[in-house]
Amino acid sequence: MSQSLIGASKFDLDTPLLCIDLDRMEANIRKMAATCAARGVQWRPHEKCHKTPAIAQLELAAGAIGVTCAKVSEAEVMAAGGIRDILIATMVVGERKWQRIAALCRHADPIVTIDHFAQAEPLAAICRAAGVAPRVILEVNLGLDRVGVRPGRDTLELAQAVSKLQGLRFAGIMGYEGHLLRIADPVEKEQKINAAIGLLTGCADAIRQAGLPCDIVSAGGTGSYQITVNCPGITELQAGGGIFMDPFYKNDCQVGELEYALTVLATVVSRPTLERAVLDSGRKTMHPDLALPVVVGHPDARVKRLSAEHCELELGPHSQDLKIGDKLELVVGYGDFTTVLHDEFHGFRNNRLEVVWPILGRGKLT
Ligand SMILES: Cc1ncc(COP(=O)(O)O)c(C=O)c1O
Repeated sequence: MSQSLIGASKFDLDTPLLCIDLDRMEANIRKMAATCAARGVQWRPHEKCHKTPAIAQLELAAGAIGVTCAKVSEAEVMAAGGIRDILIATMVVGERKWQRIAALCRHADPIVTIDHFAQAEPLAAICRAAGVAPRVILEVNLGLDRVGVRPGRDTLELAQAVSKLQGLRFAGIMGYEGHLLRIADPVEKEQKINAAIGLLTGCADAIRQAGLPCDIVSAGGTGSYQITVNCPGITELQAGGGIFMDPFYKNDCQVGELEYALTVLATVVSRPTLERAVLDSGRKTMHPDLALPVVVGHPDARVKRLSAEHCELELGPHSQDLKIGDKLELVVGYGDFTTVLHDEFHGFRNNRLEVVWPILGRGKLT
């Protein structure tokens, strides 16, 4: 979209349109940063929900120490956007990627995550040859059973082996308690998260007792951050998606305090029956996994079905006056999967377009 539309009213713009309520996003950023600061924990927000250096810069301005990225290519985008302290929180494997890490060290201070010596040794060799030494942390499996070295002896032995490698700087450990986000009972959720994070901090203690530094102990997502931030021994929190907030975090993970900031503006393109309206925004605009979009301002209108280009609404009596051509907003169900469908964010204040940000990390999957 042309920058010349800056200043336009939201409801005069063409649809579908990915919209940020800037006041709300900024308030969410402030709240997440303040929650971390109040507990003496550093904030390293995951940027996978926005993949946009301009938004990462707002997080840094609010107190974040750096960012967490999923992929090397996202880290390259963040580095090009002036961000230095970048954790890459997935396994980096393959000659080309290791070369890219060595190159990244010229512009940034990346942290690479590993869970096996087979990822560390060749990376160390390439970095040695390039005359650089990135930081490395180990991912510990906290029960998610995705990646991660087993807590206990395996973690300690890997830390000892990696810290002997020239070309890398062993910096600590991380874990992700993503299997515990949706526990409905708050007491059980807190107990299980405390236990999982206890596995991580127990590993940090063992590593330090063995005489190694363990400066970074990183964990936490939006669905758990209010609990994880209170766990003693955590040094930094990775929660990121909360800057947009969404129905998945709110309803499935019971996250309070943050407000919905990300919407899609859509147009009613068909009114087949009194009880049905069809919008111009389907699965290629709003990803339906994890949670369905929620219609703003029409509590009795419900998303019934999404096909590629259409969203079918079921209308209660208070929404049946919707007409073809009307525009309405939907809070996207899970921001992460939706933002990557779009080229640009449109930032609004009081419903006036203030900024257009290209989503520079979109499609950066390597
Ligand atoms: C390694 C890691 N950290 C943190 C998160 C949490 O991210 P968010 O706060 O955006 O939900 C995730 C989510 O998948 C993750 O994989």
